[in-house]
Amino acid sequence: MKFFVDTANLKEINEARSLGILDGVTTNPSLISKESVYSQKEIQDHYISICKLMKNEEDVSAEVINTNYTKMIREGEKLSLLHPKIVVKVPITFDGIKAIKYFSNKKIKTNCTLVFSTGQAILAAKVGATYVSPFIGRIDDVSYDGLNLIREIKKIYDNYHFETKILAASIRNPLHIIECSKIGIYAVTTPIKVIYSLLNHPLTNTGLEKFLTDYKNKIK
Ligand code: E4P
Repeated sequence: MKFFVDTANLKEINEARSLGILDGVTTNPSLISKESVYSQKEIQDHYISICKLMKNEEDVSAEVINTNYTKMIREGEKLSLLHPKIVVKVPITFDGIKAIKYFSNKKIKTNCTLVFSTGQAILAAKVGATYVSPFIGRIDDVSYDGLNLIREIKKIYDNYHFETKILAASIRNPLHIIECSKIGIYAVTTPIKVIYSLLNHPLTNTGLEKFLTDYKNKIK
């Protein structure tokens, strides 16, 4: 399973790389707004800086902020020209679906975002989205089962051999990642802190402490 980090922060992306687990990056307008970027030019430069951190890693999702079809395709084309690693992230709306079809015809990679239902995921696949991003955590937040949505999308995509890759988003805890891997999806995109929490086990800490104490008590 691929690990994408859901951040626009260069330090966090570098941390994930140094851990050796980074496969790609997703951003969104809220994540961009947390960084020190204050103009379109600075945002574009920031995307390029993120892309330059990607060596063997896959790609970087950059989201359009226009909601009208014509403006969306113009913006997406500009984003795609910033760097070959850019994937144009498009919300699943009427205009968004048309835009994904347009990008798909032009061989521009897309990430269909803000997906909360199987119906939306079917449409994303039909128009040739490269990735579909179902938001697990936000579904859990409103008392529905986000992982069940992932299961259903996987089943449907397998039924029809859709090529769209499932990129589980809005990951909130390590169990989300583990369950996604059991379902067999392509990738998760997650805050780096959730990746770190996969590391934690109290028996590892106490076990290591005991090994080192035993060693130090005997070996001079
Ligand atoms: C997906 O690509 C989004 O950037 C992200 O996963 C949303 O996560 P959140 O619900 O934690 O904001």
